[in-house]
Amino acid sequence: MKVLLVGGGGREHAILHAIHRSPRVDKIYVAPGNAGMADMAELVPIGVMEFDSLIAFAKEKEIDLTVCSQDDPLCAGIVDAFEAAGLKIFGTRKNAAIIEGSKAFSKGLMKKYGIPTAKYEVFTDPKEADAYLETQKMPIVLKADGLALGKGVLICQTLEEAKAGVKTIMEDKKFGNAGNELVIEEFMTGREVSALAFVDGTHYALMTSSQDHKRAGDGDTGLNTGGMGTFSPSPFFTEEIRKTCDKEIFQPTVDAMKKEGREFRGVLYFGLMLTEDGPKVVEYNTRFGDPETQVVLPRMKTDIIDVFEACMNGTLDKIHLEFADNAAVCVVLASQGYPVSYEKGFVISGLDKFDNKNYFCFHAGTKFDDQGRIVTNGGRVLGVTALGKNLKEARANAYKAAEWVDFANKYMRHDIGKAIDEA
Ligand code: AMP
Ligand code: GLY
Repeated sequence: MKVLLVGGGGREHAILHAIHRSPRVDKIYVAPGNAGMADMAELVPIGVMEFDSLIAFAKEKEIDLTVCSQDDPLCAGIVDAFEAAGLKIFGTRKNAAIIEGSKAFSKGLMKKYGIPTAKYEVFTDPKEADAYLETQKMPIVLKADGLALGKGVLICQTLEEAKAGVKTIMEDKKFGNAGNELVIEEFMTGREVSALAFVDGTHYALMTSSQDHKRAGDGDTGLNTGGMGTFSPSPFFTEEIRKTCDKEIFQPTVDAMKKEGREFRGVLYFGLMLTEDGPKVVEYNTRFGDPETQVVLPRMKTDIIDVFEACMNGTLDKIHLEFADNAAVCVVLASQGYPVSYEKGFVISGLDKFDNKNYFCFHAGTKFDDQGRIVTNGGRVLGVTALGKNLKEARANAYKAAEWVDFANKYMRHDIGKAIDEA
């Protein structure tokens, strides 16, 4: 079959590998893709928001299945547009993608259906938000309502900081219209675990667990980023915690969406906090996590095309989702200065050393220069993933492989997966 993958980041590169492993697939196109994907797929220069062009392309090439796992196109209705054109697509419809697209919606859903999460209030008036803050304990968390590329969340230590945050989000509109509504929520403490599930509207199949490192610097210091590295599985996501989540979070969420008339199909990402009072939802995403996908999918044994189809057909209960009994660690190689400002265009060397079996190099921000060389083209440049029989071995392998690659201004964290030493 012929597959069109929409997107062009490290997550999509990991998805591409999984699709490429399927014996059912003969030809893969990626729009727009990136330089690292060119050996497995044909790159198509169409942007992820250009639905009409993507649909025309899918028709022209007689694509059997399109796959999209990126928040902006999903929240804008790419799945609805493809379906209206009579095309098959794996992803979440617009009315369900709102679970990521609006924090006010997702918090309301959790409140209505008793799904554990931080206590919160929603505000549209900055004065009321300030008055509420006066009555609350610090630290406290402010969240702009809409998609803000993971940046619309402020954790404030003092009342002054929190009031300044209200102004930044609601009056200065730092995150644009996402700041028309503000969620103020209780600060939770605990370990953060990412649980991704395939969902077919009624059933879900949980993937192996993972953990992300969001801060830029070693020891979880510095600014929040899109993710500096991941490991899988999480030793903190025990069987007992999983059972609690199955009962209190995972199935209730799928059921709630169905009851709301927003049947969820696609990948549902549960950002969990393992608090003293049990696991709670920090956030939902309507897609594979990045860079979580870069440690989860290399461990998946089941044919991803079978799983995608089961999600679309409502037959996920017939699928036995299997992961290898090993571990994976991903170290992100970024450009010095990320996430604030950084230079681009440096030639990358050492990319030929990866065997795509135990060592993977997923491209996030790369491109071909006019001489056909692969150069840096973003803050997060590459995700170096290695497998191992356990987390310790995977981590040693990932850091070994991170040294194979070189480019000017290369930056990485040196403590990805260090938390496992405490497990
Ligand atoms: P979000 O975009 O909702 O995932 O938030 C980004 C990050 O902010 C999360 O991964 C957490 O590390 C942190 N965060 C969000 N909400 C809370 C909360 N209620 N308590 C503590 N940390 C939070
Ligand atoms: N790694 C966090 C996310 O994908 O949103």
